[in-house]
Amino acid sequence: MRIIIGNWKMNKTGREAVKLVSALKKRKLGNEVVLCPPFTSLFLVSKELKNSKIKLGAQNMHYAEDGAFTGEISPRMLKELNCKYVILGHSERRIHFSETDDIINRKVHTALEKKIRPVLCIGENLKERKIGRAKSVVKKQLQNCLRDVKKKDISYFVIAYEPVWAIGTGKTAKPEQVQEMHSFIREFLLKMFGNAARNVRIVYGGSVTPKNIKDLISMKDIDGALVGGASLKADSFAKIVQFF
Ligand code: PGA
Repeated sequence: MRIIIGNWKMNKTGREAVKLVSALKKRKLGNEVVLCPPFTSLFLVSKELKNSKIKLGAQNMHYAEDGAFTGEISPRMLKELNCKYVILGHSERRIHFSETDDIINRKVHTALEKKIRPVLCIGENLKERKIGRAKSVVKKQLQNCLRDVKKKDISYFVIAYEPVWAIGTGKTAKPEQVQEMHSFIREFLLKMFGNAARNVRIVYGGSVTPKNIKDLISMKDIDGALVGGASLKADSFAKIVQFF
């Protein structure tokens, strides 16, 4: 089943979050829809989503269960709030908070252990694309972040291909560019994990809007979207969801 994930990033207070969720609940949203509000709104949104088909996700988490990690949030805390998904390795975490593939790999293993589905983000920056290294960068990220993941666990993942140059810039990647990368990712996963990788959902993220989603979703290997800016308004997010 296709999946659409709204990544609210550092936007919305608790009150604003509840307002947005109640507006979304009034729309007809098919497919699997996941909302990832900031940590401070998870509790309120979780309550608001009771009896709704919309699922809850977090934007990040620590790899340890508890402990002396000031300012961090543990997987156990997310579980208690009914978070089914967690975004890991978002490029903004890599760029602004120095998250490395190794840290992301540790988080991936914790998420699997705790049965929270990882939405693993990968993607090249503009320079890497320009010099023709996009695929090798993505391959390396996959190899590192999925290190020691067992074959049986791979279908649990959502892989989000998010070219850094397309995030929040209004420069969406062309559907053909995305398709080419998604099929490369699929091939790689099949080689690494065998047939189980057929069920992995590979979604695209980077300036997705109600206008460009139609062409993106017509591509064979695009199984959904990770939506930032356009997920902050009920109208635009519902329009995107309706295309799937
Ligand atoms: P954007 O963000 O849709 O605002 O480009 C996507 C993301 O970073 O997940």
